[in-house]
Amino acid sequence: MPTRATLLSYLKSKKGSWVSGESLGRQIGVTRAALWKHIQTMKEKGYEIESSPKKGYLLKNVPDLLLPEEIQEGLETKIFGKSKILYLSETGSTNQEAKDLAEKGAPEGTVIIAERQVQGKGRRGRTWFSPPGEGIYCSLILRPKMTPTEASRITLMTAVVVADLLHSSLALPCRVKWPNDILVNGKKISGILTEASMEMDMLNYVVVGLGLNVNMSPQSFPEDLREKATSTLIETGHSYSRVKLLQAFLSGFEKLYETLLTQGFGPILGRWEETAEILGKRIQVDLLDQRVTGIVSAVDPDGALILQDDGGNLHRILSGDLIFLEPFSFPPGGKLGTERDFHGPG
Ligand code: BTN
Repeated sequence: MPTRATLLSYLKSKKGSWVSGESLGRQIGVTRAALWKHIQTMKEKGYEIESSPKKGYLLKNVPDLLLPEEIQEGLETKIFGKSKILYLSETGSTNQEAKDLAEKGAPEGTVIIAERQVQGKGRRGRTWFSPPGEGIYCSLILRPKMTPTEASRITLMTAVVVADLLHSSLALPCRVKWPNDILVNGKKISGILTEASMEMDMLNYVVVGLGLNVNMSPQSFPEDLREKATSTLIETGHSYSRVKLLQAFLSGFEKLYETLLTQGFGPILGRWEETAEILGKRIQVDLLDQRVTGIVSAVDPDGALILQDDGGNLHRILSGDLIFLEPFSFPPGGKLGTERDFHGPG
């Protein structure tokens, strides 16, 4: 664990008791002067730490922020978030920050987190509503040895990670709406934006951006989003630790990404199909030059939808505007999927 995360972990383990500077310094392996500097930096970030020349240090309060030391403390990953986390109180878009860093050679596993985005990006040029402190806005840098067509599997895989996380940690009944929306009770709770850069026939890097609505109340959303968007707070009535959710996401992501790299999409596809509930559904897709209506017969290994139209012809669809013509089932009860657009996986 990086020094500051170790320091934090030790202070927290003392549960509001004073800890002498000497024992703290010994625990984390720094001099008292270096310790003092770390403490000052933490105070500047919003940690309430009392210091006394006789008694040492007392951690009184932890800010509700996605600070790297908070994320790294107890993080169960080997790569993602372990070495480099770029934390920003505000940025245009974490995906843009990630792409800039990736261009400069940032390694796989780098994580970019913002408390607020002023130009949060969704797919097809849409914006992602990103108010401060209520959601998770983060981007991961990946450098997979894959062809560009294989990259769309990463979006589908990430959707499974998010759906499983919300289901296992919060018991929320999620549905993945192909390719990158996570819905609860027919409303969007999370979106994934995958962007890739290629060199020759191979991926140079991939950025996976996650937006997750956590502690937004209905009033947090602008009026035009209230009917379409939801959050974990709205769905469960409880506010959640964004730190814990992000840690769980990173660890779930790393596990499934490893599966994808070592075993391919096969072991993930079944789980995706279960959560996506798109197979056998009747949909309408507006392609660039035509509208196709039919039944989804498969999702191919590249993440494309295979749609059988009413005349029996098969269409391989990577991009278009999609409307569900029959309901998604959202236990309990069911709601009709709403019109949405998409632009191919990722
Ligand atoms: C979508 O639903 O269209 C995708 C939304 C993705 C939003 C996330 S928030 C973090 C990352 N940075 C961005 O600018 N977008 C993604």
